Amino acid sequence: MKKSTWAAAGLAAAALAWTWACASTQPDPTALAIIESRSGSTVTGKVIFTQLSSGQTRAEVWIQGATPGNHGLHIHDKGDCSAPDATSAGGHFNAAGNPHGAPTDPKRHNGDFGNIEIGADGKGHMTITTDMLTVTPGPNSVVGKSVIFHEKADDLTTQPTGNSGARFGCGVVVLTPTGNANAQKVTKGR
Ligand code: CU
Ligand code: ZN
Repeated sequence: MKKSTWAAAGLAAAALAWTWACASTQPDPTALAIIESRSGSTVTGKVIFTQLSSGQTRAEVWIQGATPGNHGLHIHDKGDCSAPDATSAGGHFNAAGNPHGAPTDPKRHNGDFGNIEIGADGKGHMTITTDMLTVTPGPNSVVGKSVIFHEKADDLTTQPTGNSGARFGCGVVVLTPTGNANAQKVTKGR
């Protein structure tokens, strides 16, 4: 066999191995928060976090039983929703000591998701992709934190909370160890 033929065969084998590796890759790491009512509200919901191959994390949020309009939504520092007013969840998740801001501000809390818009039917759905959270372990990991849905809109400027009022919904973020399959099971029936 000529040298160039060997090289071509090698390339083909490499390409085949690469394709196989991609096809058998583990699903993207996911985490889940089930949001329960707090502070006497009727708010419930869920959030699914998916760490993308880009390294960014996508959060998909579903809320129901809320009043129409904008409501602040954040990741808070402690995975503890035990208090009736959810103050046990602590302040906004803020690993780098940044000021509170909008989800588009370069300097902001890791947990600053801004607002979710609730419709006349009391339901809201939002998808946000951020480079300030991971599902895998690390300083920016969302696992072990909590999601808080607020009474009022986040004004995106008031420090350090956005002045979004009481905590109407709270859910602890837990890893879904079997990945997407498990997350999809939870999603079903919506
Ligand atoms: Cu908050
Ligand atoms: Zn904040």
